[in-house]
Amino acid sequence: MTEQELIAHAKQVMERAYAPYSGFQVGAALLAKSGAVYLGCNVENASYGATICAERAAISKAVSEGEREFCAIAIVCSTGQKAYPCGICLQVMSEFFPDGNVILEEQGHMEVFSVRQLLPAAFSFKGDPEMSAGVMIG
Ligand code: THU
Repeated sequence: MTEQELIAHAKQVMERAYAPYSGFQVGAALLAKSGAVYLGCNVENASYGATICAERAAISKAVSEGEREFCAIAIVCSTGQKAYPCGICLQVMSEFFPDGNVILEEQGHMEVFSVRQLLPAAFSFKGDPEMSAGVMIG
């Protein structure tokens, strides 16, 4: 799977975006280490905050299918400009593939960033979930 092929997949799924409110369509193609590709588009909602971004749609699909390890994600948008992922999507990418790549394209020119480059100070949970689950209140 080449970067160009992954971009082509992202362009195809972008056509399925449900974006009646912003008119801004986004497509994402996520390459798992298994070799499988998972596609996602943005799915908007009348309650704007309920919208899901294309990147997280693709990641959720993949994780639901049992995938946890990823190489790269290609992202495109309907304006044809570089579709930099939002902060929430970068945080979700950092959870699963901080060393993976984000592949963007503008006017036929591809650019590749690492997830870490785009979100160098990602949040990570350092607490002990077992301890906090046992905390007594009052
Ligand atoms: N959007 C994405 O799909 N991915 C991003 O990383 C940023 C924004 C979508 C959400 C919404 O449907 C539209 O773009 C405008 O914000």
